[in-house]
Amino acid sequence: MIKALAYVVISTPKLTEWCAIGTSLIGLQVDVLNQGAAVRMRMDDKIQRLLVLPTDGNPKLTMGFEVENEAALAQTTVDLNRAGYSVFSGTADEIALRGVANMFYFIDPDGARVEVAWGLKDAGSALQPGRPIGGFRTGELGIGHVALGTAQHSEMSALYKDTLHFKTSDYGNTLFPIEFLHVNPRHHTLGLANTGRGAAVHHLMLEYNDWDDVGRAYDMALEKPESIAVSLGRHINDHVTSFYLYTPDGWMLELGWAGRLIDDDWQVEDLAGLSLWGHDRSWLPQDKRDEAKKILKMLSARGLRAPIALPTETLEKKASGIKDE
Ligand SMILES: [Fe+2]
Repeated sequence: MIKALAYVVISTPKLTEWCAIGTSLIGLQVDVLNQGAAVRMRMDDKIQRLLVLPTDGNPKLTMGFEVENEAALAQTTVDLNRAGYSVFSGTADEIALRGVANMFYFIDPDGARVEVAWGLKDAGSALQPGRPIGGFRTGELGIGHVALGTAQHSEMSALYKDTLHFKTSDYGNTLFPIEFLHVNPRHHTLGLANTGRGAAVHHLMLEYNDWDDVGRAYDMALEKPESIAVSLGRHINDHVTSFYLYTPDGWMLELGWAGRLIDDDWQVEDLAGLSLWGHDRSWLPQDKRDEAKKILKMLSARGLRAPIALPTETLEKKASGIKDE
């Protein structure tokens, strides 16, 4: 069973820009390996959470899902084979770069590589973030979530739900059809959307422990307003308050805070919209942006609001041994 999104592999023609944004804006620890042949970006105590590799080809984001151990890896292989997917072992170099005990990959219905691994190593040293931040919310929740635009929604949905045992969180049909799936208490680890743009990485969401760290990232992004893909706002379902940046590769990075946790009593919902307020999506056509504004006004008139579930301990609290109540 898949436990979490453990890491992502970003293949990019713009490694230098990724290192700059990773350190100064996002606040990741950037460890350059092999004279720029690979870059490990750390978010926590693990050896890497974003493995950034240079490419001369098209940019890509590959999800790295985590299972418990070698037996779970073998079971996932059996499940995928039964559903008609071929599975390929990671090479010794790939496994070493990721810092995992073992890994395989398969190709999803949209033609994208997806990795499954176990045993992501600890870094062995405290995180040194690229700017003074309170760290990221990871652990059993994984590093965040990925939303994919898909051209094969029913096949992708069947892969993740029927074969890989993801569970539905909720779904919506307002601005575009979208389905949210979870594998742990994080509200969703994967979103599958028919954005009308075909198969593409839509965004990666990373979650800060501290609200002020989102605000400071927003301040920096506002210095280049054209870099902001989605303005500050709050999601209707996971309650994350966030904004979205265009990455150097054109897909989006959502930087957020205070995602809600869900449990086995969760009730699947048909969503009335995607956001409670804000989140003007500059990437949508104007008619869809207008429709989104109408939905926000309707939700506002209804007085729909959500509580804030405060996230985990910050780096400072962790270092000092202070626990939240
Ligand atoms: Fe998101």
